[in-house]
Amino acid sequence: MNALVRNLTALRDWVDERFPLIQWWDDHLGKYYAPKNFNIWYYFGVLSIVVFAIQIVTGIWLVMNYKPDATMAFASVEYIMRDVDWGWLIRYLHSSGASAFFIVIYLHMFRALLYGSYKKPRELLWILGMLLYLSLMAEAFMGYLLPWGQMSFWGAQVIISLFGAIPVIGDGLSTLIRGDYVVSDITLNRFFSLHVIALPLALVGLVFLHIIALHEVGSNNPDGVEIKKHKDANGKPLDGIPFHPYYTVKDSAGIVVFLMLFSVVVFFAPEMGGYFLEANNFIPADSMKTPEHIAPVWYFTPFYSILRANTVNFLWLDAKVWGVTFMGLGVMVLFLLPWLDRSPVKSIRYRGWLYKIALMIFVISFVILGILGVLPVNDARTAVAQVCTVLYFLFFLLMPIYTKLDKTRPVPDRVTM
Ligand code: HEM
Repeated sequence: MNALVRNLTALRDWVDERFPLIQWWDDHLGKYYAPKNFNIWYYFGVLSIVVFAIQIVTGIWLVMNYKPDATMAFASVEYIMRDVDWGWLIRYLHSSGASAFFIVIYLHMFRALLYGSYKKPRELLWILGMLLYLSLMAEAFMGYLLPWGQMSFWGAQVIISLFGAIPVIGDGLSTLIRGDYVVSDITLNRFFSLHVIALPLALVGLVFLHIIALHEVGSNNPDGVEIKKHKDANGKPLDGIPFHPYYTVKDSAGIVVFLMLFSVVVFFAPEMGGYFLEANNFIPADSMKTPEHIAPVWYFTPFYSILRANTVNFLWLDAKVWGVTFMGLGVMVLFLLPWLDRSPVKSIRYRGWLYKIALMIFVISFVILGILGVLPVNDARTAVAQVCTVLYFLFFLLMPIYTKLDKTRPVPDRVTM
């Protein structure tokens, strides 16, 4: 053994006597048994961590030159782009990173719909995931105000004023969020504070809880079989393999592929035709000039479409109140998935046609709502958005019925490869 290895081993033992280092390593990596049949859908959890790390690191560097002041914010971003060494790269990594985060998260969530990963015993894991999703939405929304371009300003103006539609407390609430009667320097300051400190802290804490909850119950897999049910004489799951080195190596390959694709976007299409960075946001915020067409960034547009699809005043409430209510419900209803799904099987592999068709209709409606949300409204688009909104909610409302009626196939005892 050479001196370096001897010293490192001694250091590790020194730490281990004072901190449960090896125990942690074993519990979460070396002796954490993950199902051996993970497929491509299982990359998106680790990719979420990778993108999160990119956002934190690039965010730290951006803050070194960014000025959270309404008179200087826009110019400071231009300064980062043109004068700061590698500033353009750091900024594009961060702005493209925001969209990449939502791409991997939506795929991560879709995997749970494919394999029933939210079902017992993973309900709490799902709830923690949903809290992550909500925090991520808040984080992205607040970050988008910071460049202080036209879309930053007017997007925030529109979304915050929506809270005003809530009866009784609405006006007070939107003033509280803005810190002012209009979006102003005060709003920029509080969004900056929340974006760089409060929400990242919440996200880090939630990711930690998410992983602890996952490791407590163990990972699901494409067969939806609980691998803990079949153990060998030493108590190791027969269908499990240690996370390290098997999945650390496999995930590294996935990370490399992801970074290659991500680099193509960052270097060749950072604006992504206006979907990742909107053209209007290259114009400084002007409170006297409303852009002709205000649309949020693509990852919010399915819910924005649901909002706009509500055009009828009903009972004593006007259409805007219904729009806000359904937009909120559209997100919140996802929390209930573990209890709405009554199927005896988890994975789509053993479910019947009813669930497969319902999931397909749900995904198509969600995508159409997303596309409509970036386009200006007209009567035909509103009608399509209304149909898709109804289909979106029916997926959840009818779930207890069609998952119960669905003709499932027998689930194998052990995982299949
Ligand atoms: C910052 C955001 C997130 C991070 C870093 C993250 C990370 C992870 C990781 C590393 C795993 C294990 C690997 C894998 O199964 O892919 C995992 C599993 C899981 N996550 Fe997330 N996650 C995030 C957000 C979410 C969200 C928004 C949801 C759903 C609302 C969610 C639901 C789940 C579920 C159900 C599992 C278990 C899947 C299974 O075992 O089949 N996660 N997550």
